[in-house]
Amino acid sequence: MTPATTPDPRPHGGAAPPPCAAPLRLPSGVVLPNRLVKAAMEERLAGAGGHPDDRLVRLYRAWDRGGVGTMLTGHVMVDRTALARPDDVILDAASDLAPFRAWAAAAGTGSFWAQINHPGRVVRRGSGSRALAPSAVPVDVGALSRLFPTPTPMTAGDIEETVERFAVTAELAERAGFAGVQVHAAHGYLLAQFLSPLVNRRTDRWGGPLRHRARLLLDVVAAVRARVSPGFGVAVKLNSADFQRGGFDLDDARRVLGWLGEAGGVDFVELSGGSVESLATAGRPADRRTLEREAYFLRLAGELVADAPFPLMLTGGIRRGRVAEEVLARGFSLVGVATAFARRPDAPLRWLAGEDGAVPAPRSLLPPGPLRAAAIQASVTARLHDLAR
Ligand SMILES: Cc1cc2nc3c(=O)[nH]c(=O)nc-3n(C[C@H](O)[C@H](O)[C@H](O)COP(=O)(O)O)c2cc1C
Repeated sequence: MTPATTPDPRPHGGAAPPPCAAPLRLPSGVVLPNRLVKAAMEERLAGAGGHPDDRLVRLYRAWDRGGVGTMLTGHVMVDRTALARPDDVILDAASDLAPFRAWAAAAGTGSFWAQINHPGRVVRRGSGSRALAPSAVPVDVGALSRLFPTPTPMTAGDIEETVERFAVTAELAERAGFAGVQVHAAHGYLLAQFLSPLVNRRTDRWGGPLRHRARLLLDVVAAVRARVSPGFGVAVKLNSADFQRGGFDLDDARRVLGWLGEAGGVDFVELSGGSVESLATAGRPADRRTLEREAYFLRLAGELVADAPFPLMLTGGIRRGRVAEEVLARGFSLVGVATAFARRPDAPLRWLAGEDGAVPAPRSLLPPGPLRAAAIQASVTARLHDLAR
């Protein structure tokens, strides 16, 4: 990536570069310049027709200058009739590819991937978007549940159409110049809804045992891989656990990773946790489990490293170079950072130089809970909008 300043002719003071500075060659052949990844953050900056414009180009150039090796876009919608938010980017057969080419070019020499997503039931009531889901189970977020409509169970036709939409979006992302796509199967969106026994109550081939609940994800990954070139990256974002009693848990994650490995074609899997109903990354998992203060999922997701058939990336609560190095030392191949890189886009250059470069955690005077989480998320979004100006 383009460094913000002239590189020191003797970087790291002559010492060996830290492990986070090492490049990583993925199974598809895509080479990531270093181990730091700007994790997906919904930017809420789409212009007319769901197209990216100069604001998104400026935002990603800021991260590119900051030295991060790989950037994931915020979730890009695969279906313009089903949007998580009305200002999300949409990439489908009706999109003009020129603005996507300009966006993909913001990465300089770094690796820029598009995260592709379908929100399923997580669409706002009255937004005009269709709320589709495996079953008619509405989002339960206490007093805020009224924001979300009861979803319509998907027909076999809806499911097949959705698989095709992911494949089309991936093909267009490749044509636009992205290095790869990441299929979003975490945080309670459509693919995670199918994986969850709490949301998926189907009795057909897409419901019941985990193998059936994982069918949609596996079909999407296979369809995407079949549609793009062998040298184009395909990744998945998966929860290590949903942190809900009776929900998708660590053993489920282990089995899904195994099936993704058997199917082949996946370059890396990012492990995260929680959902709109269980704010694990905001320190409020619904099952009240205690998580680490930093690198929240390190202990739990660390149990998946030994058997993983492809490189793993860990995201959640990483704000310091030393913690990033600890994540790599535990066997993860990539370190995902969202909030801290929004606050300090130049943090990667410092971490890559071997500094701790701690970025303060976001603060709020509100007590822990959904409102606090929403306030922190809104402050990060506002920061993205500042960077985009
Ligand atoms: C403003 C904001 C928007 C986000 N949007 C997305 C998204 O579009 N897709 C996604 O997978 N995760 C999204 N996330 C979650 C992050 O990718 C990440 O998993 C989470 O914030 C934990 O990492 P962090 O502690 O480094 O922020 C978002 C997070 C924030 C703060």
